[in-house]
Amino acid sequence: MQLSATTASVIGTVLLLGSTGASAADSYSARTNYMLMCQGCHLADGTGTAEKVPALKNKVGRFLRVAGGREYLIQVPGTSQSPLTDKEVAAVLNWILESFSRAELPADFNPYTREEVARYRYEPLANASEVRAGLLRKLQQKDL
Ligand code: HEC
Repeated sequence: MQLSATTASVIGTVLLLGSTGASAADSYSARTNYMLMCQGCHLADGTGTAEKVPALKNKVGRFLRVAGGREYLIQVPGTSQSPLTDKEVAAVLNWILESFSRAELPADFNPYTREEVARYRYEPLANASEVRAGLLRKLQQKDL
């Protein structure tokens, strides 16, 4: 029996995903989800737009250095109200942090998990820009 080209390529893809493991597939879909859901505002390179959308690049990892910052990255409307699943939100946040802001991450950075996203995502922020301003004040006090 001869396999059709499509069947062969499906089998090939399954084998490839099997051999590279879930993390390679997760990071591929996180990048794609960023492109589809986030980069319209945050831009492909994470630099944002002056005044309107804050830069993620070389910045966003700092939030993990002050109390409340970790939850804020989950609860900010762009993240919490996206159509992504909790697992996909965790993956896209980890991808953003590693790709755009590795240098600012604390040394003991633990990647986000689906469980952590589920815990905070559904407690909406009363006022994102106020919470953000408070976190930036805390960062300033720590000279970060
Ligand atoms: C409609 C534009 C828009 C989209 C789409 C968007 N964001 Fe945002 N994002 C913002 C704005 C504006 C802020 C600043 C906080 C606020 O006012 O909501 C922000 C803040 C953030 C922050 C915190 C960084 C900081 O400096 O405050 C993170 C993390 C973030 N967004 C992640 C995401 C992710 C992940 C997605 C895609 C799933 C996304 N955003 C989609 C506009 C957007």
